[in-house]
Amino acid sequence: MPSPLKAPFAPDVLRAVADTFGTPTYVYHAPTIRDRIGRLRRHLTGVPVRLLYAMKANSHPAILQIMREEGLGLDAVSPGELLLALRLGVEPDRILFSANNMTDEEMHLAHERGVLLNIGELSRLEKFGRAYPGSAVCVRLNPQVGAGHHEHVVTAGARSKFGIPVEQTDRIRALADAHGLRIVGLHHHIGSGILHTAHFWEAARVLLEAARPFEGLRFINLGGGLGIPYRPDEAPLDLDNFRDALMAPLRSFHAEYGAPALTFWFEPGRYLVGEAGVLLVRVNTLKSANGRTFAGTDSGMGHLVRPAMYGAYHALYNLSNPDGALQPYDVTGNICESGDLFARDRPVQTIREGDILAILDAGAYGMSMASEYNLRPLPAEVLVTEDGPRLIRARRTPEDLADALLATLPRT
Ligand SMILES: Cc1ncc(COP(=O)(O)O)c(C=O)c1O
Repeated sequence: MPSPLKAPFAPDVLRAVADTFGTPTYVYHAPTIRDRIGRLRRHLTGVPVRLLYAMKANSHPAILQIMREEGLGLDAVSPGELLLALRLGVEPDRILFSANNMTDEEMHLAHERGVLLNIGELSRLEKFGRAYPGSAVCVRLNPQVGAGHHEHVVTAGARSKFGIPVEQTDRIRALADAHGLRIVGLHHHIGSGILHTAHFWEAARVLLEAARPFEGLRFINLGGGLGIPYRPDEAPLDLDNFRDALMAPLRSFHAEYGAPALTFWFEPGRYLVGEAGVLLVRVNTLKSANGRTFAGTDSGMGHLVRPAMYGAYHALYNLSNPDGALQPYDVTGNICESGDLFARDRPVQTIREGDILAILDAGAYGMSMASEYNLRPLPAEVLVTEDGPRLIRARRTPEDLADALLATLPRT
């Protein structure tokens, strides 16, 4: 028997969205995002906590509005993200700017807009100190403990480009002293898609130890990385265990550090939006060859690159034939790359040409990593709230793409 749709949507809602708005379309479920925020908050207790949303996971302004309404700040990692956050009306003091390989222009932009910088290289810290002596700054450390669902998303440890190695805290303090910088925050983010509390605690222990000699900290930012279960056999992150293993040591640290205003920050992305999103695609070509059945869709790696990039698993559901017998398919995209697959050898309810498939758990690092490779227009986006589905971004057309490119030619 095919399993029920493991998504926050009723199949009818998704079918109606596909009928009304066509495919490919990303659909997001606002109540699920609010639910995840609430769940997390209920488990991050016992010390003052602040939540930032890592907007790279899904930077649609309608999603950012939800985060804002729920009182979250934002983690921005590029001038584009920073400007979007500011232009949405997010107060500068609710944004942390963590650009990697930051340029001088980016540094000036963030500082001049009143946004706190999170700096992960000694050379940038020195440039910041020279430019803005006496300023407040946050420093990103590499606790030398990394984790994640794939090597590409491990953002700490011996091979990582991120953060200042924790052994170099003396040099950080020396630089801060030389320029009168006030280190108000320490940060780490060890990776993404982590489903076991032990990794978080292992790294947090290092960060807390490193934090002790720093006076005047206003916050310690433990990053994001909270995973979601993509595969049917994966257990969700055990938030009770997360609370028990992590919050108690944070409480002790808070008491020992002796600054009641010290706050612990978390900056999740995936956990808040991943399970709230689905990508709807239409199968337009069925093809049997070499003992395989290829189900070719009107979408592809340009729209959801995670399978091609990380070998990531996304559950599939045939909305047009929910009771169909399960059969194995290679579900592919329409991009000219052999890696353009949503799933290989995956049992899916029998697929016919024209069927609509739901690709689940696509709310994080889906549209925000999408491209127009092969000049395929980006999908539409729809937000489902208590009031029903609403188009939040129209699908561009091939004509739009051609027009935009032709407009770059000099006029003759
Ligand atoms: C600095 C920083 N913070 C937070 C996140 C969010 O990670 P996740 O979506 O796994 O929670 C990322 C993701 O790459 C990041 O680089």
